Amino acid sequence: MRRKLAAGNWKMNGTPEMLAELSTLSSGDSGPQIIICPPAPLLTRAADVTLGSRVEIGGQDCHANASGAHTGDIAATMLKDAGATSVIVGHSERRADHAETDAQVRAKAEAACRAGLTAIICIGESEEERLGPDCLGIIAGQLDGSTPDTATADTTVIAYEPIWAIGTGRVPTMEQIIETHDMIRANLITRFGDQGAQMRILYGGSVKPANAADIFKAENVDGALVGGASLKASDFQPIIDALAAS
Ligand code: PGA
Repeated sequence: MRRKLAAGNWKMNGTPEMLAELSTLSSGDSGPQIIICPPAPLLTRAADVTLGSRVEIGGQDCHANASGAHTGDIAATMLKDAGATSVIVGHSERRADHAETDAQVRAKAEAACRAGLTAIICIGESEEERLGPDCLGIIAGQLDGSTPDTATADTTVIAYEPIWAIGTGRVPTMEQIIETHDMIRANLITRFGDQGAQMRILYGGSVKPANAADIFKAENVDGALVGGASLKASDFQPIIDALAAS
């Protein structure tokens, strides 16, 4: 059984005041895992606020190296020390803004794993690629290139996030979501066997309270990576509830 996961990506948003809402998020005793990824300066405060609650804390990126001359970067071990249990790697905004490649994303996921963090590895196509002839092949290539050979269901979560759906209010059709998640599952099983069958696959891109229940109906959607709608408990809690009910 794959445990469902609702992960919130605050991106470059958030204030200390907003952290108070975090500890109000809940999912019942055996409900979905909840992870919030605030900006790095808020991590330790977020860990304090959520201590004893259902909410876990994650980073939004990490460096592939354990330490060194990398001004502005953060090592996976530092996230772990700050109280994180996971880290997002390869988000399309990092790939676009910082020209991150699949190989770099894979190295970051390996660093996360070495630090004892779960890597939430993001993949997803541009709109042009969605309209082109080999959309699934492109996503499969990202999956293959960004996922470490040593990945297990404990160390790795895959987040499928079509770039054109992020922050736009547009979502793929259910057929597209099902087809893509089924392809990802098949590839994970081919490469990792039973571990691939147990790895969680999240959908991300304009998940809202109004569309969450439908998206969670897909067999190989194990949860969501949520941006804008994770900033307020009044938006994120209904998504967690829809996941719990799915
Ligand atoms: P969104 O962002 O929910 O605001 O579309 C999702 C993401 O980028 O992870």
